[in-house]
Amino acid sequence: MSDRSPVAGGETPSRSRGSLRTAVVWEVLRDALDRRVKAAGTDILDVLDTGGGTGSFAVPVARLGHRVTVVDPSPNALFALERRAAEAGVAERVHGVQGDIHGLFDVVGRDGFDAVLCHGVLEYVDDPAEGVRNAVDALRPAGALSLLAAGLGGAVLARALAGHFNEARRALTDPAGRWGEGDPVPRRFTAEQLTELVGAAGLRIGAVHGVRVFADLVPGGLVDTQPGALEALLKLEAAAAELPAFHSVATQLHVLGEKAPGEKRD
Ligand SMILES: C[S@@+](CC[C@H](N)C(=O)[O-])C[C@H]1O[C@@H](n2cnc3c(N)ncnc32)[C@H](O)[C@@H]1O
Repeated sequence: MSDRSPVAGGETPSRSRGSLRTAVVWEVLRDALDRRVKAAGTDILDVLDTGGGTGSFAVPVARLGHRVTVVDPSPNALFALERRAAEAGVAERVHGVQGDIHGLFDVVGRDGFDAVLCHGVLEYVDDPAEGVRNAVDALRPAGALSLLAAGLGGAVLARALAGHFNEARRALTDPAGRWGEGDPVPRRFTAEQLTELVGAAGLRIGAVHGVRVFADLVPGGLVDTQPGALEALLKLEAAAAELPAFHSVATQLHVLGEKAPGEKRD
């Protein structure tokens, strides 16, 4: 296996401000991949990143030594992915394919991947349940699903703290969790909704984490100017992420799903 530390574009998770967005998910994902490596008896896993975009997770996963297929409808994102993978020296392990999670099996095979990532995609798809089913059907037995989506409570809290009380209330009652016509996110989820989707697709829930519980609420200047504040905030995020009490106010929710073991791979 190769480089284990960087999260995105050569950043070190514990030092960059961008790591506030990725650190918790990255830790959970990396541990899940490590477990698959041990259980599968191979150093190199096949990983699918549905809606992988420009590769903010796909490239670091490839840097761990795994083969990553990114399926995304955006040609621009795939172009940026190719460049990012080349800059990181992992071009040969990252394969971008233009496609859609609804037509996933037009471009990749079923039961072909040790892990499937679906990060920041369910918010935008027509049918989230079908999206999750397809992601699960792409997994080999004992494979892991890493699902990340926008949390309802985090958006309500953020609108309220910004003084947009009517928008906060609207998000609470809107079936899609949107705060208004200007809301750029088409759909948000509660932890219960996400775990139900994953469970209904046949996976065991391995873990649920709240992501960016505090990061989006803390004034940026405070984190940037106070020595040690970023490190301390990262530790606080990590500690709160696992606690169910904080799931309801997280900006994003991460669910790790695990497929039942089947026959051993050859
Ligand atoms: C918010 S970005 C997330 C990118 C990446 N997964 C990450 O975490 O950085 C959403 C991505 O989903 C892609 N997307 C939108 N609709 C999709 C669909 N129906 N199927 C697959 N991907 C889709 C977009 O092109 C975009 O790259």
